[in-house]
Amino acid sequence: MNLTLKIWRQKNSNSKGKMVDYPISDISPDMSFLEMLDVLNNQLIEKGEEPVAFDHDCREGICGMCSLYINGEAHGPDRGVTTCQLHMRKFKDGDTIYIEPFRAKAFPVVKDLAVDRSAFDRIQHAGGYISVNTSGNTQDANSLPVQKEHADRAFDAATCIGCGACVASCKNSSAMLYVSAKISQYALLPQGKVEAEERVQSMVNQMDAEGFGNCSNTGACEVECPKGISLENIARMNREYFKAKASTKD
Ligand code: SF4
Ligand code: FES
Repeated sequence: MNLTLKIWRQKNSNSKGKMVDYPISDISPDMSFLEMLDVLNNQLIEKGEEPVAFDHDCREGICGMCSLYINGEAHGPDRGVTTCQLHMRKFKDGDTIYIEPFRAKAFPVVKDLAVDRSAFDRIQHAGGYISVNTSGNTQDANSLPVQKEHADRAFDAATCIGCGACVASCKNSSAMLYVSAKISQYALLPQGKVEAEERVQSMVNQMDAEGFGNCSNTGACEVECPKGISLENIARMNREYFKAKASTKD
């Protein structure tokens, strides 16, 4: 396949970026999108030019590091996959492909296509855990019965990989789908109920402090999420939040 890539290049977070054209040829349709970028980077290095910076780690759809906006869609044109699982067979010979970083005020560009998503880590640190006494007298987790339906929903929420596609595809740059997945995975289980009120308030407060926008129920996040995280989690987070606010009111 012969393609024209239009890639966002930006030296660092303070400099102004621009789209730069890169023609590329002999790309196999069986290559992954990131392998195609590897080919481009090898060619740039051989020519003595600066390679394109982009994030990746596992290349198996589990770490959430890859984060490209491809032809106007987070993770590109395929559904239910991350950028590292996107294959070149999804494109046609002769195509022009636009490649940009995830854009949001709370995700500043570090360089080229790599953005800083540490705002997600800070939200997680604000309450995305349970406190367990590991003194040796810890209760066996299996001794607490959990309804099958609740266990399944908690597991579905826990499949969020923290990639940020929900934020990038939202017109308000809202992080509600991400935060609600993290809240739901605990709210549905008995182990998570102990700190539920504190957790939801701390995580929502941190989300607001990071500069993410509000949810206006557009649903783009659910469509672009590579893990199929459902909007029902946002409804659950709102219920948890109002419940916590009502019971902690003076
Ligand atoms: S909710 Fe989906 S899109 Fe958002 S961070 Fe989690 S996996 Fe990524
Ligand atoms: S590189 Fe890990 S999910 Fe894509």
